[in-house]
Amino acid sequence: MADLLQSSSIVPSLLLLLHLSIFTVLAVQAKPSPYLSSLFFTDYNKMLETFKIFVYNRDNKNQSDFTSPVKLLFHESLLKSPFLTTNPDEAHLFYLSFPHNTTTTRQISRFINNLRTDLPFWNRTLGADHFHLSCNRTGPESYRNFVELRKNSVQISCFPTIEAMFIPHKDLSLPPLNPPLLAHHEPELMTRTGKLLGYFWGKDSESTVMDELRDNPEFLIESEPSDWNDYAEKLSSSKFCLFLYNGDVFGIGTAFRFGCVPLVITDRPMPDLPFSDVLRWSEMAVFVGIGGGVAELKSALGRACGDRYERMRELGMQASRHFVWNTYPQPYDAFHMVLYQLWLSRHTIRYV
Ligand SMILES: *[C@@H]1O[C@H](CO)[C@@H](O)[C@H](O)[C@H]1NC(C)=O
Ligand SMILES: *[C@@H]1O[C@H](CO)[C@@H](O)[C@H](O)[C@H]1NC(C)=O
Ligand SMILES: *[C@@H]1O[C@H](CO)[C@@H](O)[C@H](O)[C@H]1NC(C)=O
Ligand SMILES: *[C@@H]1O[C@H](CO)[C@@H](O)[C@H](O)[C@H]1NC(C)=O
Repeated sequence: MADLLQSSSIVPSLLLLLHLSIFTVLAVQAKPSPYLSSLFFTDYNKMLETFKIFVYNRDNKNQSDFTSPVKLLFHESLLKSPFLTTNPDEAHLFYLSFPHNTTTTRQISRFINNLRTDLPFWNRTLGADHFHLSCNRTGPESYRNFVELRKNSVQISCFPTIEAMFIPHKDLSLPPLNPPLLAHHEPELMTRTGKLLGYFWGKDSESTVMDELRDNPEFLIESEPSDWNDYAEKLSSSKFCLFLYNGDVFGIGTAFRFGCVPLVITDRPMPDLPFSDVLRWSEMAVFVGIGGGVAELKSALGRACGDRYERMRELGMQASRHFVWNTYPQPYDAFHMVLYQLWLSRHTIRYV
């Protein structure tokens, strides 16, 4: 009798447990996440523990390609980071830091040729476990070594990249540097008045779409903010921040941070979005073709309203820390996210 009683009370509690766990699973799944993979945090921690990079010419203080500050920051952060190893046998990836006198495709080709003759690493994968920084490399691409570099190695470019210079799922892009307002502004404390539907600033404010929006009182289009306080205020009080893909995307990470959902106006596909293999961009930003003009832009904004809008805004704010560049890299910042993407690409397949 006691047994019976016990087992009959076990059944409902099992059912309750089952019910609870199903409920928890559903609740977990329903919680919106900015990440494409549910393993993001696990993978990221694994990267911190195990990722090792070998640098050719570690002493190279004057790389050929330091024309943009963001590349320089990435390079310096990498050289100071705990991810470097002097033992190539334990390296997952090899960093090609080109000397300052190595800029043309011919010089690069010769540089790689020397390295493949002297060391065994390039030949093992034909460069697939190598990466390099390049935001604007031009010249004839007929040299074999250069072709292998382009086809196999991970190229880290600056977003937005030059058309056709980016190979999706192999290459990466560095998000732009942040406007100089991060330390002093706390978006949480700002009141959200929501006066503006869309805010744009940039040197491209003369484009046709922006010109048409200029007369619309729901939008504010300016060539530059009067000061950074004012800028933070405008980001906080606008529902959408407009960007032109071919133009200035400088503030996109900051827009996320201040809860201003980016609306990106583009004339072509955007394979080079920063962290596109990690973040759910389509859940955090609105993309609209430039061809449809203001009408299409407005209907895209109309579709991104209500709960959908609030969700985009929340996911963007969650992801915003990944767009922050720091002089001294911090967990989950832009530097670590680029490394994380490199870590994901360590098994890429070579082209022969
Ligand atoms: C770095 O290289 C540039 C040429 O690309 C040269 O003008 C400059 O003097 C070099 N700087 C140092 C510190 O060697
Ligand atoms: C670049 O300079 C180094 C010495 O600083 C030299 O050994 C190398 O051959 C040069 N490379 C090119 C392509 O001129
Ligand atoms: C790598 O391969 C090239 C030919 O593809 C060869 O000339 C070179 O000696 C090889 N390097 C090593 C270190 O074996
Ligand atoms: C890229 O390089 C080419 C040729 O050197 C130059 O004409 C072009 O303006 C550069 N583009 C950027 C974005 O720096």
